[in-house]
Amino acid sequence: MEVSVGWSVGSGVVSVVAPVLLPDADGVDPSASAGAAKQASATAKMAGVINASLQPVRICMATSSHLQAPNATRQLQSVVTMVAKTAQPPTVLTTISATVLETVLETVLVVDFGAQYAQLIARRVREAQVYSEIVPHRITAAEVQARNPIGIILSGGPASVHVAGAPVLDPQIYELGIPILGICYGCQLIAQQLGGTVALGGRGEYGRTKLSRLAAARSTLLPQKVDDTIDVWMSHFDAVSVLPSGFTATAATADAPMAVIENTSRKIWGVQYHPEVAHTEFGQAVLENFLYRCIGAKPTWTMSSIVEDQVAAVRALVGSERVICGLSGGVDSAVAAALVHKAIGKQLTCVYVDTGLMRKNESAQVVETFQRNMGIELIHVDAGARFFERLQGITEPEAKRKAIGELFVRIFEENTGGLTDAKFLVQGTLYPDVIESGGVDGTASVIKSHHNVGGLPKDMTLKLCEPLRTLFKDEVRKVGSELGLPDEIVWRQPFPGPGLGVRIIGEVTPDKVAILQEADAIVREEILAAGLEREIWQAFAVLADIRSVGVMGDERTYGRPIIIRAVTSDDAMTADWARLPYDLLEKMSSRIINEVAGINRVAYDVTSKPPGTIEWE
Ligand code: XMP
Repeated sequence: MEVSVGWSVGSGVVSVVAPVLLPDADGVDPSASAGAAKQASATAKMAGVINASLQPVRICMATSSHLQAPNATRQLQSVVTMVAKTAQPPTVLTTISATVLETVLETVLVVDFGAQYAQLIARRVREAQVYSEIVPHRITAAEVQARNPIGIILSGGPASVHVAGAPVLDPQIYELGIPILGICYGCQLIAQQLGGTVALGGRGEYGRTKLSRLAAARSTLLPQKVDDTIDVWMSHFDAVSVLPSGFTATAATADAPMAVIENTSRKIWGVQYHPEVAHTEFGQAVLENFLYRCIGAKPTWTMSSIVEDQVAAVRALVGSERVICGLSGGVDSAVAAALVHKAIGKQLTCVYVDTGLMRKNESAQVVETFQRNMGIELIHVDAGARFFERLQGITEPEAKRKAIGELFVRIFEENTGGLTDAKFLVQGTLYPDVIESGGVDGTASVIKSHHNVGGLPKDMTLKLCEPLRTLFKDEVRKVGSELGLPDEIVWRQPFPGPGLGVRIIGEVTPDKVAILQEADAIVREEILAAGLEREIWQAFAVLADIRSVGVMGDERTYGRPIIIRAVTSDDAMTADWARLPYDLLEKMSSRIINEVAGINRVAYDVTSKPPGTIEWE
């Protein structure tokens, strides 16, 4: 029977023709609603029984967003190759349009009981080079099964298991035989749902707490190298007081006598503390022990595999179509463009709209990197004059943002209008954007307008190509370096779409932008010179709309102040003002006043977020 084995990503289809006889597996109707579950089982059979007696089979799988999962292409390819090698006699199959993804990719699901914890856990799992995805706590056992994860981690969360309506896990998930680790709330949930007891608030423990192994108990979760007593980070009020049957407590703290609980035969573990936070000693070691030893995961999620997989996925998605990418000067669009360029070369055209509101030398650097160094076709639109004209007289922050956003989209459209054959638009959407937009909940991807200047045209007919959709920011930076982008781009701080426009209070004019660019460059130069570039989330200057009296030499001055803003943050959702050394602040202040005409005073913003925001407008 003639077979073309292929798989599709989005609307594109890659075909690998292999002389193959597939093992016995259920045919899957692409339109079947239970498609996902069947895909999983069919794929597992493909992978698992290649030496068993082989029956020709037709497997049709619907294309789906699942195909976005990295590694899928490569792993499917290796399954197909194995099947091809072992099939006797080598025969060609019926058309297989297979969507495989998570089913062949070793994936750990992180069940979200409180978003900020779940994201950190998912990142730590990936740091251990195991692919992880966040799923909502409403996920059912059937949905878990369909995704075929190698392990599940239940995150912490802000609720108490005793509160009416507190989130729970579908109890059937415990019966699937998939290894589970519960963290904090997740640990209490395991105890409560499997027949133990969680005592209502004793004293609670917050912050650094001593955890000690229980001498009589042998732990499979805490690796040998973990000392008998360690500092762990706690944040709990309730605690497990009666173990479910079959469980052993292997470590305790003063107020949580069952702080680590284990049921090795059922492959279920729980820790009351937070191994994912940096302050917990041996935190990553315990997570890795769970992944490598308890689950048997392999560290295959590497930067080169991500690049390889995404390059293959982009090729599969766009085929021979023309693709447009809007460069903003930021890390995400830069890495997305570099990745897509690696995949499809000259089919990609980048458009860089220079709003005149960029940081000092930024535009020159974008052109240098993308056009000259990487040889990417780049349309550089120098639109500063139009933006300044549009911004005349506008002082209200939202009106300013709206004006910048609308003009940006118009200019972008004007300059892509000639590319009538383009079918795809590259977007640097990241995994946290997908999560925050409800993407993990199965709802369609929502583009966060906050992260794109003014949002996209409503009548946009281009299809999206989002090669960074599964990645966290730190992974995007690593991918950027892997692709050869310079540090100045890869380690660039986040920069708002409306640019310096939201850092100039009041009307935006070319001379104010010039002043701010100089002051901003000094702030960033000094942060770099102090070696703080990678510790600080964002450091920049703001130009206030007031004047104050000063004295320079014997002259009375009446100038503007610059406000320095420097924050630490993990995700920009919350932020703290950075405790910059006084000497550093002094240096910035004197340089700004001496070198930037019109500035006679420098202030430092000591507001966290909340109640402030990071930007000033
Ligand atoms: P706020 O000021 O809301 O900023 O605390 C949070 C993060 O988002 C960035 N930001 C923007 N990014 N378009 C963007 O692409 C925007 O309109 C925008 N406004 C704020 C900000 O720099 C910070 O990192």
